[in-house]
Order: sequence, then C-alpha cells, then structure tokens
Amino acid sequence: MLDRLSPQAPDPLLALIRLHAADPREDKIDLGVGVYRTEEGATPVFRAIKAAEQRLVDEQDSKSYLGPEGDIGFVNALMPYIFGADATMGGRLAGMQTPGGTGAVRLAVALAQKAGVRRIHMGVPSWPNHAQIMADISLEVATFDHANPDGIANLDAVLTAIRSAGPDEAILLHGCCHNPTGVDYTLDQWAAIAEAIAETGVFLIIDSAYQGLGAGLEEDAAGMRLVLAKMPEALIAYSCDKNFGMYRDRVGALYMLAETPAGLDAITSNANALARASWSMPPDHGAAAVRLILRDPDLTKVWLTELDEMRGRMRQVRAALAAAGTAGRIDLTPLGTQNGLFSVVPVSKEEVVRLREEHGIYMAASGRINIAGLTMANLPKFVAALAEVTG
Ligand code: LMR
Repeated sequence: MLDRLSPQAPDPLLALIRLHAADPREDKIDLGVGVYRTEEGATPVFRAIKAAEQRLVDEQDSKSYLGPEGDIGFVNALMPYIFGADATMGGRLAGMQTPGGTGAVRLAVALAQKAGVRRIHMGVPSWPNHAQIMADISLEVATFDHANPDGIANLDAVLTAIRSAGPDEAILLHGCCHNPTGVDYTLDQWAAIAEAIAETGVFLIIDSAYQGLGAGLEEDAAGMRLVLAKMPEALIAYSCDKNFGMYRDRVGALYMLAETPAGLDAITSNANALARASWSMPPDHGAAAVRLILRDPDLTKVWLTELDEMRGRMRQVRAALAAAGTAGRIDLTPLGTQNGLFSVVPVSKEEVVRLREEHGIYMAASGRINIAGLTMANLPKFVAALAEVTG
C-alpha cells in the first residue's frame, strides 16, 4: 500500500530552517519562518514563562488526563485580553484549548464544514498552511486579493467576496498582523466589513495568531472586536505561540460564538468530538504556564513588558527600513506602517534565489520577510543586497 504514495515536497517555510542551518556563512540572515528574534538573533524563552514553568515543576501534582477541551482555566484567562471587558459576549462565547494556532484553524474549518460550510473565501496571499489545511479536509477555497500594490488593504475585494458568498460559504480573515503582508484593515475598513457580513450572513472565521505584535494588545484586537459585536456567530482561532514565545510547545485556543448562550452546548460538543478524533486532547504544559502567568498580576506585568520589548524592536526595524527609502526598484517605505512579524517585498523567485545564494539571505519564495530577522547591525547588508539584486 505505502508504495503508492508519491513523495511530497517539504513545507517551504519549514524547509528554509534546514537550508539556513546548513549555510556556513557567518553573516547569513534568516528572514524565513516566523519566530521573533532579539537584536542578538536569539529567540529566548520569555522570563515570565521561565518563572511559570518553575512554578509548574514545583507545584503541579498530577499529569492525569484533562479532556478534549484542555485547560479551561487557560482558555478563560485569555478571554478578556482577546475579547475585552465583556469577555463572554453575554454568555455566547466559549473556548477550548488546541495544539497551537494551527490546531485551532484546523478545528475551526472542520467544525464549519461539519455544520455545512462548503467553500471558504480567503484573501491571498495568506499563510500557506491555510490552503494546505483546506485541501487536506477537501474544503473548496475561493480567493480574493488581500492588499493593493500600494500596500493598503483591498477593501473592495473583501466586500465583493462577502457579497458574492452563498449561504453555505464562509470567509476567513486575519485578526491582526496579516501573514504574510503585514497589511491590516483599518478600523473604518473593519466597520465596513462587519456591515457587509451582517447583511449577507456569510459565516465568519478569524485567525488571530499575532495579537500584541502590531500596535498593542488592545489595538490589535480592536478590529476583530468591532466585527464580532455585529455577528450572531463566528469561530476564532487563536495562537499564543508568538505572543508568549511558546512556538514548539503548541499553545492555542478555539473560541466559538453562538447566537444564544443555549446554542453553545451543541457547538462545543461537536468541537470536542472532532478534537477527540484528531488529537484526543491538547498538550498541557505550555497552556498551563500561560494560565499561571495570566492569573498572577506580577507575572502578567513581566509578560506585558516582554511583549512591549518585542513590539518595540520590530517597530524600530520597520522604521529603519522605511527610512532607507528604496533599495533597487523596491520601495521600502510602506513597511514602516505595516504590522507584525511579516511584510512582503515584491521580488521575483529568481531574485529570492540570488539573495540566498549570493548574499546568504533566506526568505520565502513569495518575498515574505520576517522583520524580526533583521537587526540594526544586519539591516544595511539586507538593503544593499536587495538593491544589488533588484537594481
Ligand atoms: C510562519 O508563518 O512562519 C509561522 O506561522 C510558522 C508556521 O508554522 O508556518
């Protein structure tokens, strides 16, 4: 049987990790997979996480099973940060823990499919794994352009997609820090999107994987909250892998918004059944550490400071890129106002290969760069190489 399988190409983003590691050049620059790096190029464990993990080692008294919903204390402690003061939206919102943001997205689209969704509208470019997940569960995808060439979100395209959607269709939107473009909707654009979705009844799925890495925790959630306030129902996939630096520990959650509090039971029980059949229950450790942080005001303060430091460094890199103006034919100024870990520089696949082979600069074939891979020290080399390759 297994002879019938044909080899699959490795995931291009994950393949870059290996390519970069094998490059002996000391001045190589990794702008590939989305992990935060300090000015020294490190991806350290957060101080708040270290302290919470120590406490877990000292105080955790059992590793016995939880359930498909995972650590509900973690899920509930996060809610005010994501959804604001009325965290349960009048008792209509409940969540469950998932293995990372990917687990949450996978569960969200599988749940939507089980409820009858046949097609998902998605802005492109998007995180490549979105399309891979949809293909894996045989869910049809319809695409629209996320951003205009001038680096502004394409409101007309998303509104047209919403208005063209049929009754068994959904739309997937990024909550903030759009991956890969860094181009987020403005609050006015979110308001127009909310109105269009409310009028047409298209089903809404939001992927929020970078809250706090754009303009601030509250600011990054504002658009999503605005649209959710108008929704009778929605699914929100959430990741703590970036804003708590928990990448390999896989810390995520799926939140489900029902039309009425009474409607939540049926929805969450279906999500639990899907999780049980997929991974039974999520890994506990990372979520337990996040719960300890969010329940302890002192640790919360440490975490928020670390998040501010991350965001501040990325804004500094963005400002320096924008100040560089142009590199060859590339206008770098829009990167200054974009958000989060990523932006796209409009280079060809051949230019991406030249940047890698001639300059040791690693980025996705799409031209996506991880802003946190740049430092004040290596940024001039990046700009010069970009100028040379595209000049
Ligand atoms: C990325 O886009 O680089 C991250 O979300 C990591 C991943 O899993 O692809």
